[in-house]
Amino acid sequence: MKFLAERIKLMRASEIRELLKIVESRKIISFAGGLPDPSIFPKRELSDIVVKVLQEYGDKALQYGPTKGITSFREELLKFMERKGIKISSDDDIIITTGSQQALYIIVQTLINPNDNIVLELPSYLGAINAFRLSEPNFIGIPIDDNGMRIDILEERLRRLRSEGKRVKLVYTIPIAHNPAGVTMSLERRKHLVELSEEYDFLIIEDDPYSFFTYEPTDTTPLKSIDNNGMVIYISTLSKILSPGLRIGWILAPKEYVDAFEKCKQLLDLHTATFTQYIALNAFKLGVVETVIERSRIIYKRKKDVMLNSLDEYMVSGSWWSRPVGGMFIMVRLPKDTIDTKAMLIDAINAGVAYVPGGSFFVDGSGTNTMRLNFSYPKVMVLQQF
Ligand SMILES: Cc1ncc(COP(=O)(O)O)c(C=O)c1O
Repeated sequence: MKFLAERIKLMRASEIRELLKIVESRKIISFAGGLPDPSIFPKRELSDIVVKVLQEYGDKALQYGPTKGITSFREELLKFMERKGIKISSDDDIIITTGSQQALYIIVQTLINPNDNIVLELPSYLGAINAFRLSEPNFIGIPIDDNGMRIDILEERLRRLRSEGKRVKLVYTIPIAHNPAGVTMSLERRKHLVELSEEYDFLIIEDDPYSFFTYEPTDTTPLKSIDNNGMVIYISTLSKILSPGLRIGWILAPKEYVDAFEKCKQLLDLHTATFTQYIALNAFKLGVVETVIERSRIIYKRKKDVMLNSLDEYMVSGSWWSRPVGGMFIMVRLPKDTIDTKAMLIDAINAGVAYVPGGSFFVDGSGTNTMRLNFSYPKVMVLQQF
């Protein structure tokens, strides 16, 4: 191991992926993963599309492509974004990425210097925390409640930092159907956050994989659509509305940022697979994405309700859990701070059930009495046994 570079010490294996290796090798009811239900995958539709792409666009779809992504696909995504109220007039402001995980990596490499103050929710998405860690920032964790990030606490923190002559570079947030917390930021807080970004001059990274379908009528107005001053960088993905295997995500940002992201992406993979971009483009044009969205809404709502009913019935009193309007996760906080869900996991696995201990989602070391439960992947029968 003597040849490894120093920076490898900053690269943490995802605790979840390590855990899944153990869980998959045993016969266990697992609420630990974060996978879509494969029954939502449009296999028949995609097999027709794959043939069409090869026949009609073969020369281009199998060729190298532009780093920012195929123009017609970027235009299609901008139309999709417009339906969410995000109006972007130029395709200079969008770049396709290899999943939104790559979007996060690119953003971190392009924007963060060591010791920059960056704000995350307590808890936050582990893939983002691990990507941020590579740039050795100073993490500031802001607690959440049922209405998402406590923007009042953020404001107080910003005020205090300003009085000390310090500033925050960016706030990373998953406003709708948070992973892992399962909560959604109220519209009022979303507006307040955008106001603060102007007042205190910080960027917002809005990570939005889950807002395309909700299980009950919910306002999912993106921060990006409220922002008039180029403070919000928006990232999203087709992983939850078409297929994670296609590895397609995107970033919306003012052109100057997109140009910097493009330079970084060139070093990573030159461009996202042209083949899957053409597949995704045709999936939009033929209404397949809409079909997956509708299918997911129905299947996941049922599963979410089964899990919530079981929690209502069996969970020890004094516990808190989120009631997600979307997404794939419920977070549970056990009544006593002294209960360590990481230590408890061994007993749980021996009893035939797995979850993700919440601690690693909290950048301040708290959350050791929390756990993340996934309801999208397990079968309804299994959820009912819980
Ligand atoms: C909040 C959030 N961001 C980013 C990702 C990464 O997704 P992908 O790389 O599949 O687009 C996920 C995946 O679960 C996620 O939950």
